[in-house]
Amino acid sequence: MSRLSTEITDSAQKVDKFIEQVVSLETEPKVLYKAARHIIDAGGKRLRPFLVLKSCKLVGGAEQDALATAASLELLHTFTLLHDDIMDQDEKRRGVPSVHTKWGVPIAIVAGDLLFAKVYEAITKHTDPKRVKPKRILEVLQQVTKATIELCEGQTRDMLFEDKETVSEAEYLQMIEGKTAALFETSARCGGLLGGANKTQVKRLGEFGRFAGLAFQIIDDVLALTADEKVLKKPVGNDIREGKRTLMVVYALKKASKSQRKQILDTLGNQNASAEQIKATIALIDSLGAIDYAKKVADRYINKSKKALAKFADGADKEDLLSLSDLIFARQH
Ligand code: IPE
Ligand code: IPE
Ligand code: MG
Ligand code: MG
Repeated sequence: MSRLSTEITDSAQKVDKFIEQVVSLETEPKVLYKAARHIIDAGGKRLRPFLVLKSCKLVGGAEQDALATAASLELLHTFTLLHDDIMDQDEKRRGVPSVHTKWGVPIAIVAGDLLFAKVYEAITKHTDPKRVKPKRILEVLQQVTKATIELCEGQTRDMLFEDKETVSEAEYLQMIEGKTAALFETSARCGGLLGGANKTQVKRLGEFGRFAGLAFQIIDDVLALTADEKVLKKPVGNDIREGKRTLMVVYALKKASKSQRKQILDTLGNQNASAEQIKATIALIDSLGAIDYAKKVADRYINKSKKALAKFADGADKEDLLSLSDLIFARQH
């Protein structure tokens, strides 16, 4: 195992132990807590809490001061996944049935709401005000709130684009900045805030997180069309059926001839599209150079994220964050 994967596993173990206590399976009504824990217990990469803890350490902070926030950002992420799977009508997440598939939409909604409330409970109850100044804790809460608002805006844009014939690259980037990059940015900024970073350091960490998050979503979209479903543990090809305007679709529609454009638009958002039709459309998008283009744009953001760390002192924590950027680009799931 590489140093990075050992570090991610270590941080995930601490975070999971914390989550098991704050979202306990012993609490009544059990179905609510079981539903809230369902996909947390099914796995996940735990990248956002890792980013919180590493950013805290990078600026010389103590991991214990950032643990509640790190775990909370995983809870916030999970809340968005529960609701996202309802919105995207996806039946699988982390290799198991999504929460609404197993318990129905109403339970999935309320389990998501519970997780969202747990974010604030965990940060306010488990961040020690004798160790972290209350003003910093307030800044963390403001940051988390801001990210959630941006997330809602991004998720709404994502849905509105399904019915919009032409979406520009700038509109796509604005959408993923909200639905994904905001949480990465917030994770890094919160880690910095809790570790005692100054304003400039918090800003640079935020840039690191935002650029890494943009690359993360672009690669997520690439994997959603090209990955092995068993490795990805989420449905492959559904983005086409749902009419998602990913960077690849935006680019392919721009490059396509009239007949190619018709083929793409006939399949995009067509709930009745057959598996073969979807496969053919993905092949067409690929042949137009769209997948290569998306990877090139993602690579550009990875480089920008690394540049944002240039002014921090060299050391193991900085190396780990730089490796995290590489992992975001090279990952297979
Ligand atoms: C999935 O995020 C949702 C996106 C923002 C694309 P991850 O790929 O980090 O999901 P898990 O937590 O590892 O399952
Ligand atoms: C990612 O949404 C962002 C959120 C979950 C808020 P997607 O719909 O693109 O991600 P996956 O592919 O379902 O994980
Ligand atoms: Mg989705
Ligand atoms: Mg979605």
